[in-house]
Amino acid sequence: MGNNTDIITNLNGTSDKDRVIIFDTTLRDGEQALTASLSVTEKLQIAQAIERLGVDIIEAGFPVSSPGDFNSVQQIAKTVKNSIVCGLSRAVEGDIKACADALSVADQFRIHTFISTSDVHVQQKLKKDFSDVEAMAIHAVKYARRFTDDVEFSCEDAGRTPIDNLCRMVEQAIKAGASTINIPDTVGYTLPNEFGGIIETLYNRVPNIDKAIISVHCHNDLGLAVANSMAAIQAGARQIECTINGIGERAGNCSLEEVAMIMKTRQDLLGVHSNIKHQEIARTSKLVSHLCNMPVQPNKAIVGANAFSHSSGIHQDGMLKASNTYEIMTPESVGISKTKLNLTSRSGRHVIKHRMESLGYQTDDYDLDTLYQDFLKLADKKGQVFDDDLEALLYNIQQQEKQVHYRIEDLSVQSGAGHFATAGVKLAIGEQVEIQSATGNGPVDALYQAIKKAVDEEFEVSDYKISNKGAGEDGLGVADLVVKFNGRNFHGYGIATDIIEASGQALVSALNAIQRAKQIASLREQRQQQPPKSSVI
Ligand code: KIV
Ligand code: ZN
Repeated sequence: MGNNTDIITNLNGTSDKDRVIIFDTTLRDGEQALTASLSVTEKLQIAQAIERLGVDIIEAGFPVSSPGDFNSVQQIAKTVKNSIVCGLSRAVEGDIKACADALSVADQFRIHTFISTSDVHVQQKLKKDFSDVEAMAIHAVKYARRFTDDVEFSCEDAGRTPIDNLCRMVEQAIKAGASTINIPDTVGYTLPNEFGGIIETLYNRVPNIDKAIISVHCHNDLGLAVANSMAAIQAGARQIECTINGIGERAGNCSLEEVAMIMKTRQDLLGVHSNIKHQEIARTSKLVSHLCNMPVQPNKAIVGANAFSHSSGIHQDGMLKASNTYEIMTPESVGISKTKLNLTSRSGRHVIKHRMESLGYQTDDYDLDTLYQDFLKLADKKGQVFDDDLEALLYNIQQQEKQVHYRIEDLSVQSGAGHFATAGVKLAIGEQVEIQSATGNGPVDALYQAIKKAVDEEFEVSDYKISNKGAGEDGLGVADLVVKFNGRNFHGYGIATDIIEASGQALVSALNAIQRAKQIASLREQRQQQPPKSSVI
């Protein structure tokens, strides 16, 4: 392994050569794979959760790709203080300039520029020669260095790049001024020993390799993203690019929570560590799954619902005798609390406050009086209130606090076997109130028809899903859907004791997202119509 400690010192204020830098790309590689894109507010919520998790670098987006992406990268760069915010750019000046413009509001930022280096990409996708690509990469890195010292260069499809070309490109990019070199396995093709071997060869053959941090970015097409990333770390790489819950293009990216817990649990063998605050893992995973409308499979390592549950009698017997018989890490270590809580209408405010604290919320994250009033109403309806219920109540309060255009004031539905369902809705639309009713082939369809009449917009609901959150029969109904409007997808989410109410909330939340998008578009149009400053003078 080379001597890259100076760069680690500069980046992290530490000269710890055993520290692995965690680069999170949930908001870029992860977001680009979602059916409905996230709003700026949702991206900010995720960025702040990722910052709290202790991530070193947050790749916030691809600023040149759309005005919306530019805006969200800029907002994140303004807000996040404890992680370095980064933007992605192709190896062309326009992209790099867009990154610099979006990020320059931050004290410290990174520009990440990339170009393909494999034969198949260079010849088939870019229709160029390797030497053209090399020249573009050198120019891009030098150009990016005009805006910041922190430039990362990626050789897209490095996993399938002939090793001589890869060594040549890495050497040139470092010479041009890149302080991080990223080696992506873009199509998730390599095997762990093969990928580790690529990193080892770079350390052996690239003369200036000690001037940069070697990073890896592995996709999960063969289910090997985490294994490949760990093999690279064992070969000397010191940055892992990953996403929460492993979301990302196709089968996804390397999962952040898995690499963080591997480094913690097998420190004995690996001898490396990260700055991740492991106890924040569970709640960050939940937030990302929820806002991205991407459920986590129950048997997913670390954050799946079954990751810490034991079914077989033999296992349960072992667990009762000593938990380390079947658990190599505790659920508490990733922020999952095992404590069973009996929260009822007799529970006081301090009990709720204490429970929220143990779920990881600070008192300034919520208003205790409002939460407590809502808790009492729910406890009257349900008897017992669970942790998931409390988090759902908090989510609903946060939604109500937002300036929304549409709000359901009341609804009623009648349905039964063999009959048409009928629904009525009282919908607040800005300052107006609209009351409508409709029939449908089921209660949700009837409600959606009534809402459609009230809002008078042409939209189509797709991907409607309902699920249960919380404890069995006492759980809350959750509705998730995607609304197609003007060729774009908008995600809607609703949660309530009643599944019909949750479905109504989900549609209305998507309609509010459409309304926000319309407002942004009309503001942009107005700005474009304003005469340029010079002609006013
Ligand atoms: O998978 C990939 O190669 C990428 C690059 C842009 C880093 O996402
Ligand atoms: Zn990728």
